Amino acid sequence: MAGSPSRHTTEPGVTGDDNPQDSESTGFAGWLDARLPVISAFRNEYIRFPMPRSLNALWTVGAMLTVVLVLMLLSGLALAMNYTPTAAGAFASVEAIERRLPAGWLLRSMHMTGASLFLAALYVHLFRGLYYGSYKAPREILWIIGVALLAMVMVTAFAGYVLPWGQMSYWGADVAGKAVGAVPGIGPFLERLFLGGDQPGDVTLHHLFVLHFTLAFGIVGVVGLHVAALHVAGPGNPTGIPAKEPEQTLPFHPYFTVKDGLGLVVFAILFAAVLFFLPGLISEPENYRPANPMHTPTDIEPEWYFLPFYGILQSIPSKFGGLVVSVGAILLLFLTPWLDTSPIRSARNRPVYRIGMIALVVAFVLLGFAGKHHVEGAWLYVGQLATLYYYLHFLVLMPLVSRRENAALAYGSALRVGDAP
Ligand code: HEM
Ligand code: HEM
Repeated sequence: MAGSPSRHTTEPGVTGDDNPQDSESTGFAGWLDARLPVISAFRNEYIRFPMPRSLNALWTVGAMLTVVLVLMLLSGLALAMNYTPTAAGAFASVEAIERRLPAGWLLRSMHMTGASLFLAALYVHLFRGLYYGSYKAPREILWIIGVALLAMVMVTAFAGYVLPWGQMSYWGADVAGKAVGAVPGIGPFLERLFLGGDQPGDVTLHHLFVLHFTLAFGIVGVVGLHVAALHVAGPGNPTGIPAKEPEQTLPFHPYFTVKDGLGLVVFAILFAAVLFFLPGLISEPENYRPANPMHTPTDIEPEWYFLPFYGILQSIPSKFGGLVVSVGAILLLFLTPWLDTSPIRSARNRPVYRIGMIALVVAFVLLGFAGKHHVEGAWLYVGQLATLYYYLHFLVLMPLVSRRENAALAYGSALRVGDAP
């Protein structure tokens, strides 16, 4: 890692037995560190890790995501010990968790609220990255791993939502099955594979339960890679100008431990407020009715965090087209580092791109509303326009603004060269 002191104290040619131990650790710690450098890694990658002084509050969201992930795993494990993954037993087991398991209601609410706030924090983290150009070299892999995490969390949350086997769970699985079934040629095969039959049932629930917790643990591994990649490039910062000089950085501990800690306290207050005072904000009443294959609810609606993509899905008249365009909206994110080739990172210093970013956030929110209103009437046009802008932003605005900025910078440096005596 740039800027960190060397961990290797071995002189070339010195045998293992004569190794001097890490000069900073003595006794057992020194002995252990010479054999497995966990203490020096902790010191270098956390305590002393140089962080730009200019980081703003948006850089505390990564810590929030990490803590919520741990909370999801712990509450999920406790839920799984009391959950029955069968069509006949799932709803009753979730009811029993809510009503009979000591503090079961709290456990379930934590898992539900946690999922919602996890996705909310992920969207903030994603748009922060887009705004400050965090995807640019040398952070392309860090970004790609991030987008993969977004996709994994979305699939995990979708699978989780089917597990309680309420009306929305059932009909959500049905809609997803039909969407997959719309793929030309292999669609019906994929639909059967996903549902395990003609309609959602026992096999679907089993598939999704296994997918749910394996993906959740998979996410932990991928977060490890994400943070490893972050420690290679080091964090960016809101100015977009690399903090290379020692006076531009501060050690992570205690400065950013305290800063992230404060962010976590604010997040915990928000979490508790939703959990205890606004439970209706995230739970869908229809999902408290057991799944009934004979009765389609009037409004089949995904959780709020899927609404923008649901809005895209519904804005396109063809089923398969809708699937391609909504999945494409996530795939586009993978390409971002190569669509935006401007050397200027932060939107703070890119007036045209900044307006484009604001429009992107507005389009994303409008898509959410369009999804909520089933993309009917005027919402159809809103949904289509917002989808169009989303694509134009990445495929036209980003490359065009980059070209202009590259040309302007080349012109500027040519002038400077020309001006030189
Ligand atoms: C990234 C981590 C995770 C996310 C985003 C997530 C998300 C969700 C969501 C959205 C639900 C539906 C809640 C509802 O509306 O009822 C759910 C339910 C459930 N999850 Fe998870 N989950 C995660 C990790 C886990 C893990 C690791 C396990 C088990 C090892 C687990 C086990 C369960 C069980 C048993 C249910 C059904 C009970 C219920 O609905 O409350 N989850 N999960
Ligand atoms: C489970 C989900 C995720 C976790 C736990 C996570 C965790 C973190 C942490 C701890 C940091 C360092 C602190 C910070 O910058 O806030 C970070 C940075 C970063 N993350 Fe994530 N992240 C996740 C998902 C994502 C997603 C979805 C993206 C984008 C598509 C992303 C892109 C980035 C980038 C580009 C940085 C470096 C930003 C910079 O310093 O300029 N991450 N992440």
